[in-house]
This record gives sequence, C-alpha cells and structure tokens, in this order.
Amino acid sequence: MNAVEIEEAISLLADQAFDAAEFPYAFLESFGNKAATIKRLRSGNSNKSDVGGVLQTNNIHMLVCGEGEVTASLDALRGSLATTKAKAKFILATDGVEFEAENTASGETVACDYAKFPDHFGFFLALAGISTVKEIRNSAIDIKATGRLNRLYIELLKNNPGWSTPERRHDMNHFMARLIFCFFAEDTDIFLGDDLFTSTVEQMSDSKSANTHEIISETFRAMGVKVADRPNADLPRWANGFPYVNGGLFTSNVDVPKFSRIARKYLLHAGRLDWQQINPDIFGSMIQAVADDEERGSLGMHYTSVENILKLLNPLFLDDLREQLAEAGESKVKLLNLRKRMAKIRIFDPACGSGNFLVIAYKQMREIEYEINKRRIETNQRSEIPLTNFRGIELRDFPAEIARLALIIAEFQCDVIYRGQQDALAEFLPLNAMNWITQGNALRVDWLSVCPPTGTGVKLIGDDLFSTPLDQAEIEFENEGGETYICGNPPYAGLSSQGKEQKDDLEVLFEGVTKYWKSFDYVSGWLFKSKKYMEHVGCAAAFVTTNSICQGQQVPMMWPIVLKDSVAINFAHSSFKWSNLAARNAGVTVVIIGITNRACLKKKLYSIKKDGETTERLVNELNAYLIPTKNQYITPVSKPYNKGKSEMVWGNKPVDGGSLILSSEEANKIIKDEPATSAFIRPYFGSEEYIRGKQRFCIWVKDEERGIAEKFEAFSSRFQQVKKMRASSKAKETRPAAEYPHRFRQIQGNPGELAIIIPIHTSENRHYLPVGLLPYGSIISNAAYGIYNAPIWNMSIIASSLHLVWIATVCGKIKTDFRYSNTLGWNTFPIPKLTEKNKDDLSKSAEDILLARETHFPATIADLYNPDTMPDNLRYAHKRNDEVLERIYIGRRFKNDTERLEKLFDLYTKMTSSETKLNVKKAQG
Ligand SMILES: C[S@@+](CC[C@H](N)C(=O)[O-])C[C@H]1O[C@@H](n2cnc3c(N)ncnc32)[C@H](O)[C@@H]1O
Repeated sequence: MNAVEIEEAISLLADQAFDAAEFPYAFLESFGNKAATIKRLRSGNSNKSDVGGVLQTNNIHMLVCGEGEVTASLDALRGSLATTKAKAKFILATDGVEFEAENTASGETVACDYAKFPDHFGFFLALAGISTVKEIRNSAIDIKATGRLNRLYIELLKNNPGWSTPERRHDMNHFMARLIFCFFAEDTDIFLGDDLFTSTVEQMSDSKSANTHEIISETFRAMGVKVADRPNADLPRWANGFPYVNGGLFTSNVDVPKFSRIARKYLLHAGRLDWQQINPDIFGSMIQAVADDEERGSLGMHYTSVENILKLLNPLFLDDLREQLAEAGESKVKLLNLRKRMAKIRIFDPACGSGNFLVIAYKQMREIEYEINKRRIETNQRSEIPLTNFRGIELRDFPAEIARLALIIAEFQCDVIYRGQQDALAEFLPLNAMNWITQGNALRVDWLSVCPPTGTGVKLIGDDLFSTPLDQAEIEFENEGGETYICGNPPYAGLSSQGKEQKDDLEVLFEGVTKYWKSFDYVSGWLFKSKKYMEHVGCAAAFVTTNSICQGQQVPMMWPIVLKDSVAINFAHSSFKWSNLAARNAGVTVVIIGITNRACLKKKLYSIKKDGETTERLVNELNAYLIPTKNQYITPVSKPYNKGKSEMVWGNKPVDGGSLILSSEEANKIIKDEPATSAFIRPYFGSEEYIRGKQRFCIWVKDEERGIAEKFEAFSSRFQQVKKMRASSKAKETRPAAEYPHRFRQIQGNPGELAIIIPIHTSENRHYLPVGLLPYGSIISNAAYGIYNAPIWNMSIIASSLHLVWIATVCGKIKTDFRYSNTLGWNTFPIPKLTEKNKDDLSKSAEDILLARETHFPATIADLYNPDTMPDNLRYAHKRNDEVLERIYIGRRFKNDTERLEKLFDLYTKMTSSETKLNVKKAQG
C-alpha cells in the first residue's frame, strides 16, 4: 500500500463506530497487513502480548482499554517485557475516545482524540515499510488532498469516458487545476465567505447530483467575467459572489464533466479539507500521478524532499545570495543591490514536473528578500521577485498545469507570511495572465524561446496563463543584466529504459555532433542543451542525474561535447541515494552536477559521510568522473600501459547453439558410455559458474585431435548440430566457422593453462571483485576474462579495493552489476613500478586470500563475498592485501575512495603523458 491508500484506510476506520475487539486488527489491516497475518494474530499463534493486547513482532504492541485508562495503558505497554523482546517499533493505547502512541526508538509521541488519529498517520508509516521524510509526516493535508482528488478523478472518468480520450485529457486536467484553485481560494479568503465554492456546490446542486456540473460551470464562468461586465453576463445571483480571477484559469471553455452522487460526495470531501495548509511543492509532486494511468498506482510516491532539492539549489546560486547577504550586513546600499540582483535572477527547470524545484527556489529567494527588507526597514515593500522569472518546460499536461498553480499558491503564501494576509489578498486577484511554464518536449523546444538570455528581442505577449497547447512561453521580456540558473532532475533513462521517442530525441539532438549518442542516457540531452544555451550567455546549470553519467564508457563519449568552450564542472555532489516514498524503495544512486561557463576559480565537491553529515571541499579541478583532479578521459587500449603487468584476454566464445557445452549429468553420461572421451571434456567457467559454483563442462578438441574426437558418436552428433547452426547463422562472420564445428568460434589466450579468472559481471554489493585461480585445464567462457600463466601478484591487484573503485568509475555498471573490461579497466589501471619485494609481498597476500577461502570449502564465491556474512579471516586477508598494495602507492592506507581515485587519476595522467609514452616506446625498442 502506498501512503495515500493508507491514509484513506485509516480515515475510514476512524469514521466507523469504535469496535474495541476489532480495532487492533483493523488498524493493522489499514497498513497493508495481509489477511493471513491478521488471522494468525487473531488466533493467538503469533500474538505475544503480555498485557492482553495485540503484539505484532518487529512492529507494534497495541492495547484497547477501558475509558480513561489510556495513559496508564501506554505506560503498561512501555514497561512490557514483550514490547522489548519483540522489538516493537510502536506502542499504542486507545479507549475509543482518546488515542496515545509512542515510537519506541525515538520516544516521539502522539496524543489526540480518537477521531483525529488519522491526522497522525505519517507517524506510523514505518509500519508499512515506508521510511518517512520529515516534511511528509507533517503534511497530512497534502496526502489527504491527493487521496481525495484521486478518487474524484477516477470517479469522474468512470462517468465521463469521453473525458479520458487524448482529445479531452487536457480539459480534464484543466478542470482539476480549476478545482484545486477554488479549494485553495475558499480557505484563504481569496474568495469571500467560508468555503464559498464547496458550500455553493453543496447547496445549489441537488443531492442526486444531476445538475452538479451546471452549478460548477456557472461558478467557473463567473470567475472569468470582470465585475464591470457582469450585468450583461447573465450570471445567476449566487454565482456573483465569486471574484474575477483571470490568469486564463477561467477564460476558456467552462465545460464540466457530469457528476455521479459518489463523485459529488468526493468533491465535497475534498473541499472540506483545510487547503490553506497545502505545500505547493509537496502536494504538486504527489498529485502528478493522478492524471497518469500508468503511474496512478504509485500515487503520492514521487515526492522529492526539500532537503534534496536544496542540495542542488544551494550550491547553484542560493549560497551565493546568502553570502552576499551576510557580507552586506546592515549596509542599505549593498542590501538594495542584492535585492535588485535577485529581482533579475531567472530560474529555469526544463523538466519541471509540477514545479517543485521552482517553488522551492522561489520560496528561498523570498526568504532572503524578506531579510533584506527587514534590515532596510521596508517590510511593507512589495516583493520585487517576479513569478515570471521562474520558468519551466514539462512534457506532461497535468504536471505543467499544477506547476503553474503551485507557483501562484507559493506566491500567495509567501505574501501572507512576509506581508500579511491583507496585503496578500489585496494584490492577488486578478491573476497575472503571463505564462511561464511551457508544456512540451524540452529536447525539441528551443530553450532560448522559453528563457531568452538578456537583451534579445523575444517579446511575445501572452494573454492566457493556462491556455494550451503552449509551444512557447508567452512573456514580455525585460530583464537586462539578469542571471539565469538552469536546474532540475530530468528523466535519467539509461539505454534499456529509453523508448523509441526518447531515442529519436537524442538522435535529432546529437545528429552531426557525435556518433556515440546511442550509448547515452536520456539525461545527457539536458546537459548538452545547457551547454548549447551557454553558447549565448554566461550561466550555470545543475542537474540531479543517475551516477551512470559519470561512470564508464559514457564519460569519454559524452562529456567532451559538454565540457568545451569554457564550460566546466563547478560543483558536484558525489553519489548518494535519492529515495522517494515508495514502500521499501531503495532509491536510485544519483549525483548532482553543476556546470558553468562563467569564470570559477575554486570548485566545490560535496559528499555525504557515513554519519549522514555533508562535507564540502574546495578544489581546483573537478573532472567528468567527479574526481577532484585534472580532466582526463579514460579510453580503452589494447595492451596494458604498465610494463610487466600481465595481459588479460577475453574468454572463449562458443557460438554453438549450446551443443559444445555440457551439464554435469551430460558430461558424466558421455564419459561413462565412452571413458576415452574424458580427454576432450573440460571444466567450463564463466561468471555464473565461478561465482555461484555451478558446474558445467565443454567439449574442447584441438584441430589435430578432430579425427579422433569425431569417432565418438556423442561428439559427432553435437558437431553436426554446431555445423548446422553456424552455417545458417545470420552473422556473416559465424558462417565460415561451420567448417570447424569441433571447436569454439572465438578462442583467446592459452585456454587450459594456468589461469586467473575475472568475471565480467559482479554484483555491486560485493566489497571486492571475485577474482581467482582455476583448476588446470579449465576453459574460460566469454562471460569472463582470463590471465594465463601469470605471476599471482596480478591477482592481488585485481582483488584490491583500489582496483574495484577504478573499475566502478572507469568501466561503470550495467544495472546493479559492475561491468569489468580488460581494455578499459585493466590495461589502463596505473600501478607504480613494482620492486621484486613488492611482487613477493603481493603474491603472498593473494595466496592468503586463496587460503582463507579454502578454509570454508565448499562455500561458493557468492557465499564468501556476501557483504553481510563474509567470513572474518577472508575479510582480514583482503584488508591485509589492501594494506600491502596501498602502501606501495602512498606509504599508508588511503583515507577513502576519493583519495584512491585522485591518486589513480594522477598516475594515469603521468602514465599517459606523451613524454612518458615516448619513453616507454623507446625502452621497448
Ligand atoms: C524525474 S521528474 C522530475 C520532476 C520534478 N522535479 C520532481 O521532482 O518531481 C522528470 C520530469 O520530466 C518530465 N519529462 C520527461 N521527458 C521530458 C521531456 N522530453 N521534456 C520535458 N519534460 C520531460 C517528466 O514528465 C517528469 O515530470
């Protein structure tokens, strides 16, 4: 269950008559517990309460008590041994009149009337596995509003199927935006009188709902007519109380979908909420999914915390404003200059969704402006920060509508806070008609037309804030000398999640610029368009993106196109989890990257420490891998740069339709039937076989042995199948291989000799790469790499933390696996010149790792390298190995991965400098 569904379920529970016996089970059911779980608790099998209540292990201990005994009951629950033993996260006591609960870990409590407990549902979200975010817990209203409107939306579409067609979807979305505006306006005195809109609908429409749509339509019509024009507008008397709103919100078609009785009820329920408290950023993000059939299931889950948004906005421009404010002190002139500067700052989010980045930016700037006004003793001053300076592009119609509304609501709320309700009201209506959120595809729309740099002549005057479709922002532009900041969290979409349209967008965008665009994440489009924008004006941009954009092969392909013409990375936030509210959502790992073409001497690198604290580091350089060192792109090379390092080759590719590969059973049977075949059957290892201990074999016949091998029926029939499969292959390079069906199509290195195996894919959860030695005679498949007849110190290097961090950065990942590459990861990995002593020490520690593994025979590599259960002796052997290797690099252990990478990048730069390359060549003759 998601947060919205939970809120609905417990609201329903609180509305019903209190049933003492049933309450605990109904409460648990509201948080998504399955019927079977409740049944077990009810039967007493899993209920371990020692105070006569209901105890769900690891979750909650509840007690329903006699009237007036709630506090004492909570005390009893707190003191209960069973509460502690069962690690209950919450204790809860109620008598149906009062309600008290406590979070046993934090000690936080809730005490309220029973009827009001649904207001505190955020407190209990952990019961459903949803880790709460502070703002959400305090935002019951946003979740409630989302839930109510969602029900209404679905019910309306059920009754008005025509409104869900693509042609009418916009009307439906616009209708919802109008409703939200009315709910907000009636609770904030923008409309005169209590609940003017909801009460009007309730009183004027009949309860069977036949005319609800007509009543609403008339109120909408009234809000589109100026007071002066009203005498000729033929408005019903009761609609005359609604003010003229303008802003395009009520000017066009005032069609309203038909209401069923249920829909009417939902509308009245929604109207009864206190919309004054709505948080436009939170609510906007939550409600986005309402209009999206595919996303509705995750309703309310797309919430991005303010804290995370500020991680981007602060270094992008807010920190600078605050510094200027601090520096201005009480100087009236300096304060005025800052205010003037802020009035010309434009924030542009080209994937703005419901406008949360823009709303937060606006609110923060208003806070700073207020501080200026306070120091200048001008608190009555009207805000000089125009809402029209907060611009966005959004693909989907509904979020674009909501973004416009969210900004209007944010402006009103800020006016109330900083100037008082009266002034806020006096200036609110009619709404400004200028449109600043464009609905469209940001990779196709010309950003200069939406957010023109200062001094250009784009001057389109709009007259309808909400009219659509909008291909272009319609705004009179007067902003000479202003700054522009581009921001947002555009869709990341890696290769496998891009749809055809997204691939087309990239093709159009990068055509003639690079041939590598097929390997780019979709988000690269936003980085590239920011760079293009910077060709016209000095500005700064920052985006949240998955860290894949700064890892692996994409880096040398994509970043050189962005980081040129004075564009550089000026700040970055290294990888952290960006989670939303979805139950048990682990979140994606993201980075924040800021780029600018303005002069910037020092760059900032932020990272989150293990204790959650964010550190800021001033550095001279930040490269595209987000390492504080000179920009360097790591590209594949066919041989190792370092002399002495052994050559690593790809495993052997059968291209056999499976005929040359044998399961254990097949191999055993063939050998049993014909023992002489055993000379041609070898253990076969790829990633899966090596890591998970799956036994497989392959038929391995050298050319000179073909005649003998073909005499075995078990082999010859398989060779026939290989021949047939290859001969009919679509791949032209495979067809000639039909001539030698007794062997793999591609053979590399010295298969069968002593080999170090390196799987291509390995889970990102493992702390070390699972490298190892294979039994003599084994064959490595194309799912792994091999180093043949090599000194074992090579293994020590591959097994080190240092190498892993290089591979993660330089080779990148596929889904949640590291993807090893010999040419990109091994050949480029810089190692200092090793003395014989170094090599001996490394060989010894590689042997120690192998010996430590041996002591756990027959545990598989997957078992041994499970980060939660890795045996101590193996962990120790790896630590020693890291110690030995890192001492060779810097004489001590590295402090962290950033330091490791800094060193490696420095060494790489030296190793690949043209002078060094020349010397190596000379030395090699
Ligand atoms: C990750 S969301 C971010 C929205 C918002 N900032 C938030 O935190 O909820 C990305 C947004 O980009 C929009 N989007 C996707 N492709 C787009 C495109 N080509 N042009 C403009 N917007 C796009 C999506 O509809 C979505 O609202």
